[in-house]
Amino acid sequence: MKTILSTTADNTIGLVHRRVFGNFVEHLGRCVYEGIYDPGSPHSDATGFRTDVIKALRRLGVSTVRYPGGNFVSAYDWRDGIGPCDKRPARVDFAWQSLESNAVGIDEFVSWCKRIDAEPMAAVNLGTLGPAEAAAMLEYCNLDTPTQWVKLRKANGFLEPHGIKLWCLGNEMDGPWQAGQVPAHEYALRANATSKLLKGLDPTIQTIAAGSSGRFMPTYLEWDRQVLERCWDTVDYISAHRYSNNHANNTAEFLAEGVEIDRVISDYAGLIDYVRGLKRSEKRVYLSFDEWNVWYRQTSGDGRWETAPHLLEELYNLEDALVVAQYLNAFIRRADVVKMACLAQAVNVIAPLMTTRDALLKQTNFYPVELIQKWMIGASLRLNGGGAMYKAGKHGEVPVIDSAATFDMGSGRVAISVVNRSVDSSHEVRFKVLDRNLGTIAIATQLTGKDAKQTNTFESPTAIVPQPASASVEGNELHITLPSMSHAVVCVETRER
Ligand code: AHR
Repeated sequence: MKTILSTTADNTIGLVHRRVFGNFVEHLGRCVYEGIYDPGSPHSDATGFRTDVIKALRRLGVSTVRYPGGNFVSAYDWRDGIGPCDKRPARVDFAWQSLESNAVGIDEFVSWCKRIDAEPMAAVNLGTLGPAEAAAMLEYCNLDTPTQWVKLRKANGFLEPHGIKLWCLGNEMDGPWQAGQVPAHEYALRANATSKLLKGLDPTIQTIAAGSSGRFMPTYLEWDRQVLERCWDTVDYISAHRYSNNHANNTAEFLAEGVEIDRVISDYAGLIDYVRGLKRSEKRVYLSFDEWNVWYRQTSGDGRWETAPHLLEELYNLEDALVVAQYLNAFIRRADVVKMACLAQAVNVIAPLMTTRDALLKQTNFYPVELIQKWMIGASLRLNGGGAMYKAGKHGEVPVIDSAATFDMGSGRVAISVVNRSVDSSHEVRFKVLDRNLGTIAIATQLTGKDAKQTNTFESPTAIVPQPASASVEGNELHITLPSMSHAVVCVETRER
């Protein structure tokens, strides 16, 4: 089977923003406690944070981290998480029925972000709290005025403002599971007022309106329309969330998931354009795909009032990793719309990393993220051509190859990320950049395996790891031979013709 793709270096869709390689840390299960923070672990330093996790997240090139939720944020009071640790109150967490010690709060989180070289993205509670508490948090974090919350931050040892630039206005507020769920018009009023207040205090920030929780919701898009119409002038992004599943246990169908991801992005692109047209506006609003991953096996949210219960500890296999690659390909294909995205989540909870007190495991889904963020940089390129198709169950006929390509003007490198969705056939991809001469291959790496269900485990941590891919430049064409069920990234030096 064969696919032939071509492009030119100026056939660009948009710059791939580093913020699409974001991540998400929620006070949920063992993500914060026993995940990023574990004073009892031999891998932790004097601050209690795990240095092996920091190292792995740096390797993952995490650009941005959304915090502290998720559902958690909608009943969370940020003021519980500041000041001397022994004075912080323990609380019950409504979202996950767990106990929250508040040992980690916004100050520790921002300090930790610096260590992984990522930008913090703060979410405010618009469920049980409102604009006033969000404004107090922004004052505490970002201002340098002689006022109560700034004085308190300085008394807590943080003399310089944290300078948080990204602010999420609540989370999934159309979800019946959400503390303080409201109808769209009410959320829109709340989000608009909060955004105005926050930007009034710090005009350098950007805000993200909470979009509908997902395509499965009856409120999908209609919620977003109402929110965008009300908040158009005050927000910079609308959020989308999606978790993919293989409940049907049909690998061929599951591997066509990229089609659905494209559909969601295209739905939002259309909606954003529609509202922009209604408003006769010059302004752009972008999509923040700030929760995405495969998630369907470990779904119990009942922590039975324990601290750091084992919740949502999904084990990822090969087919999941191939879907994860397709999410990033889709974000790159629509670099004109998706300017921010967060893989949910960082550690232990639906995550690419798992910890025990002594060890760290990189799951299968770690590797496509690592590879793509490292090599797919610069401008996203529009690809022409195509090739073999296959029958993918409910998705109908779908291309066997899912692809995205980039051109980095600085280095002259062109990179291509390709997933072979076929469960049983290898596939040849031929790729031309019509206005460039192809030179040396800088990297050709693939993730593959014989068994779609193969996972990495603490006992067998390298069952699915990257290996060299088969790629060569022939004539002026890049040839890649992909085994069945594989993802490859190939980056090649190019020169102007
Ligand atoms: O990431 C897990 C949960 O999924 C988040 O808390 C919520 O926003 C989403 O429903």
